[in-house]
Amino acid sequence: MPTFTLLYVLHLLAALAWVGGMFFAWMILRPAAVAVLQPPERLRLWLDVFLRFFAWVWAAVLVLPISGLAMMHLRFSGFDAAPGYVHAMLGLYLAMLALFLRVSLLQLPQLRKAVEAQDWPTGGVVLGRIRRLVGINLSIGLVVMAIAGTRLF
Ligand code: HEM
Repeated sequence: MPTFTLLYVLHLLAALAWVGGMFFAWMILRPAAVAVLQPPERLRLWLDVFLRFFAWVWAAVLVLPISGLAMMHLRFSGFDAAPGYVHAMLGLYLAMLALFLRVSLLQLPQLRKAVEAQDWPTGGVVLGRIRRLVGINLSIGLVVMAIAGTRLF
């Protein structure tokens, strides 16, 4: 398989796992968990879900810029010659990364602490903050997919 194709496939799979995972969490699992589970079980579930999902997001966070920058150099010989949609991907990736780092390094430990202490009200507040940031990141991710897929500008 040619190098560019391999990079392209890795790039697409990483974007799919990250954005698709957030879509599933926000649109499907969140309302289902609210409908079916009481707060203690729900908070335990989300802690476990985040710990598993974020392992994949860390992989995507690394694979996307490595494959993306490599493709940029192979196809457009550098940043200056790359089209607008590639610049947009890079810029919006940085925004997504910042939000992910905030959730992963700041809020997830707070959620874990609240669950371990069985402090459900605090856990609920932290989960609400995580939900907001994941919602924003999902929106940005969908915009990136639309811009990249259509090569809009
Ligand atoms: C450092 C960040 C990134 C860089 C440098 C980058 C760069 C690139 C490059 C060079 C291509 C190939 C474009 C072409 O062949 O015309 C590409 C394709 C693509 N990227 Fe990114 N990307 C980055 C982040 C992201 C993110 C965060 C997502 C989605 C969440 C994403 C989604 C896509 C998609 C769906 C394609 C295929 C669409 C197409 O080729 O038109 N990228 N990216």
